Amino acid sequence: MDKTLIVFACLCGFAAAQFNSFGSFGATANAGAYNNYNRGQQPQQQNRQVQEAPRPTGVCRELNERYPVSGSCDKYVECLNGTAEEKLCPDGLRFNPNVNFSVYPCQYPNEVSCLERSALQPAQPTDQCEHQFGYYKLGDSRNCSYFRNCVNGVGYDFQCPEGLAWSSASYRCEWPDEVEDCDAEAFLGFRCPEVPISKELGAPAGFRYYRADNNCQKYFLCIGSKPRVLFCGSNTAYDELTNTCVSADEVAACPSELRAQAARVREEEKQLLAKELEFNAKTTNKRRYQYN
Ligand SMILES: *[C@@H]1O[C@H](CO)[C@@H](O)[C@H](O)[C@H]1NC(C)=O
Ligand SMILES: *[C@@H]1O[C@H](CO)[C@@H](O)[C@H](O)[C@H]1NC(C)=O
Ligand SMILES: *[C@@H]1O[C@H](CO)[C@@H](O)[C@H](O)[C@H]1NC(C)=O
Repeated sequence: MDKTLIVFACLCGFAAAQFNSFGSFGATANAGAYNNYNRGQQPQQQNRQVQEAPRPTGVCRELNERYPVSGSCDKYVECLNGTAEEKLCPDGLRFNPNVNFSVYPCQYPNEVSCLERSALQPAQPTDQCEHQFGYYKLGDSRNCSYFRNCVNGVGYDFQCPEGLAWSSASYRCEWPDEVEDCDAEAFLGFRCPEVPISKELGAPAGFRYYRADNNCQKYFLCIGSKPRVLFCGSNTAYDELTNTCVSADEVAACPSELRAQAARVREEEKQLLAKELEFNAKTTNKRRYQYN
């Protein structure tokens, strides 16, 4: 039981690291619309959606404010110093009535639920993009990691970190088993072996791990029948006995160059540690000598 919990915590850390590294490049081709790779940012926005009674266009209740045009998800009225002007979000973006006035109010569809504001301007597709703005999945259910960011109708293609799939619903790279239109087995090229199900106890609890056949640093985690792929850090490899990543020189399945490299690194670390201990011992002695 303890072990399962620890393993789970480790996985979360791994996933968070991946999402963070991804966020740094996702922000480059941004359209001035709000970028939201940050987990935890979007769902609250949708829940907080306040439904205000529609009001006639052209009325300002405050000097500076914005409100939706009745029935439309991308048209809004902007009051600047008491003067109302009707505006339209760029094709593919939607008006979010719940953002601060200082924030650009046109955002990606995953951040704005239109509810009964269902009308949208006609799409303005280009040969690269179905709308002028937005993120769109490329590939198919076996090839889930590619996506396209459309900016003014020009597409910029990206790929999720290895093992993750693009989710059109959350606008993020997710585990493939959490993405509806991704076939995780086909995408990762791994089928989780079936395990015997006990009549009395049901399916076995916890996660199962399998080292990849062709790469000793790569391993699969099976949650039920769905695989996720994970990677050990540099110079470490997956050890089937302990279900952890250990120094690669200890894993017979690794190629000899990697094992030799890992052994070298380990030896260097040992020597460094020995030197540090020696140094610490010396300085402590010196200090003792000085204070006495
Ligand atoms: C806003 O409107 C007031 C009153 O009409 C005017 O005096 C002021 O200069 C305006 N401010 C700006 C920034 O346009
Ligand atoms: C809106 O922006 C103002 C000025 O920048 C800030 O003081 C206020 O806290 C913001 N409100 C929200 C809800 O973020
Ligand atoms: C997967 O999709 C990408 C983007 O459309 C494409 O470039 C790539 O060739 C596809 N790979 C396979 C194996 O189909």
